[in-house]
Amino acid sequence: MCGIVGYIGEREAADVLINGLTRLEYRGYDSAGVAIVNGSLEVRKKKGKVKTLSNDLAGNVLRGKLGIGHTRWATHGPPNDINAHPHTASDGSFALVHNGIIENYTSLKERLTNQGYTFSTQTDTEVLVRLIEDVRNSTGLSLGKAIRQALSQVQGTYGIAVVSNDDPDMLIAARKGSPLILGIGDGEYFLGSDAAPIIEYTRKVVYLNDGELIIVRRSGFTVYTVDNIALDKAIHELEWDLEQIEKGGYDHFMLKEIMEQPASIQNAMRGRLFKKAPYVVLGGLFDVIDKLKDADRIIICACGTSWHAALVGEYMIEALARIPVEVEYASEFRYRNPILRKNAAVLVISQSGETADTLAAVKEAQSQGIPVYGICNTVGSTIARETDAGVYLHAGPEIGVASTKAFTAQVTVLAQLALMLSNRRNVLTDKELKNYTKHLLAIPGQIQQVLDGAESILKIAEIYRYANNFLYLGRGPNFPVALEGALKLKEISYVHAEGYPAAEMKHGPIALIDRFMPVVFIAMNDSSYDKVVSNIEEVVARDGNVIAVTDAPVGHLDTLCQHVIRIPTTTELFTPLLSVIPMQLISYYIAVLRGCHVDQPRNLAKSVTVE
Ligand code: G6P
Repeated sequence: MCGIVGYIGEREAADVLINGLTRLEYRGYDSAGVAIVNGSLEVRKKKGKVKTLSNDLAGNVLRGKLGIGHTRWATHGPPNDINAHPHTASDGSFALVHNGIIENYTSLKERLTNQGYTFSTQTDTEVLVRLIEDVRNSTGLSLGKAIRQALSQVQGTYGIAVVSNDDPDMLIAARKGSPLILGIGDGEYFLGSDAAPIIEYTRKVVYLNDGELIIVRRSGFTVYTVDNIALDKAIHELEWDLEQIEKGGYDHFMLKEIMEQPASIQNAMRGRLFKKAPYVVLGGLFDVIDKLKDADRIIICACGTSWHAALVGEYMIEALARIPVEVEYASEFRYRNPILRKNAAVLVISQSGETADTLAAVKEAQSQGIPVYGICNTVGSTIARETDAGVYLHAGPEIGVASTKAFTAQVTVLAQLALMLSNRRNVLTDKELKNYTKHLLAIPGQIQQVLDGAESILKIAEIYRYANNFLYLGRGPNFPVALEGALKLKEISYVHAEGYPAAEMKHGPIALIDRFMPVVFIAMNDSSYDKVVSNIEEVVARDGNVIAVTDAPVGHLDTLCQHVIRIPTTTELFTPLLSVIPMQLISYYIAVLRGCHVDQPRNLAKSVTVE
């Protein structure tokens, strides 16, 4: 949700900034802009993708060794050139980029307007700029101190970066609720909302925490607290590499990430899952597993696709470990004054580790004295650092806005957690544990088999590319997969789709069925198979077009359904790891065939750092 980059050093800043913005574009792509200091402060900003900005810069080069850049996901004010960041001081002396929301911007704007300040944009960010100006004008403070004082009057969230014409050797950044990382080079520094724009220059980074402000010069940097106390910050090593954040020959990141799943799942199990007792060791939860195993309730909070993974986790943990689980939208959890008894545990799931609502859920639970455990993909992310303990997915960076490999890695980690808890609680016999482990270890190879059949899924997508509505139905652990299939299609193809538990069809969705309605059924040959087949019969009787995803042997389904996608057999609880792959591929191919921008679907952002 908005990407920020900054550079100070001896390279041409414009090159580093455009490169960085391109890598951060998955965080927002409504407009992009840069400000570069070189004797004067020059700002260039354009509605649309980073490409539009870089074309503009190519025709009219901006030189300078210090600068900031921004790619926007619009919140306040429509995406246009004027609302694009950076925003500049009235006298043009400094420029600022911002990620987050200034929640009290209306009252601040009113006050500043009454004082005579004028505004040319509809953004909350410009209010922050005028506020900094006002502090400077009234106090004569240095820019760094004025920023700190202005920020103390702001409610809401921010990650900001500022450069000034008055000091060509200074880059200032501050954060509260919106991530910022400083990459440390040799006499040069790189600022980024995440590691993507930094990784090709350096692996050494410093993570800024909430309330911290950093002043960076070519000779070094200092991080200050809100109370102006200088901090000693730890330097961390990034673990991702450049290759992982590039497309590697695929047309889209989403396709690359779908195809990577055999490897990413393997990585989520490496060193954790064993053929012999103790079968599972999740190192990050090792010290807290006894507390977790004795929890009388586990509440899992997440958003979007991670919420769907949580739902699969609910089935797995309840079935294998017999601990009651509730799954909550993080955004709802925080605002409903949740009742958390002493023995409850909260688990949050987030690919990015930066989702504002999920982070707020962490804080809500912690404020009630409840331990919070995290399942995150991004190492060093805010949620990973704020939770009491946790597990990384090790799925590698996910760039495509529609989450794919993170979902399967999340389900893989949840499956391992369920087995680890089961073992500790003596729910399953050794033989049963061995059997589940065997099935989980086989999943990467089985996913590869599904991926090898991608061509036949493309043919199905070709047939239904013009459909305006889709229904997705599944039962048990495949109900969340139906939700995920529908979400994927909505996200990247802009096709209306709904996911339902198959048996709920008769309570409403069946009214929608006609010959124009494709219905995707997940009909695994498990305990609910016969019931799902009855639902398929009901759809067929009403002329609906059925696409069935199944592991059942060739037979009845093949005569009943228009299309059957066969996937390998695994144990019932782990079927989502296989059944979700055709869902991902159907939506990917339909989006491509409809000419949609797969990796950057309209109105969405990868990392939702505002409420
Ligand atoms: C956004 C993304 C989704 C993601 C959701 C939660 O909506 O577009 O792909 O599932 O945020 O993100 P998280 O990083 O917390 O898993």
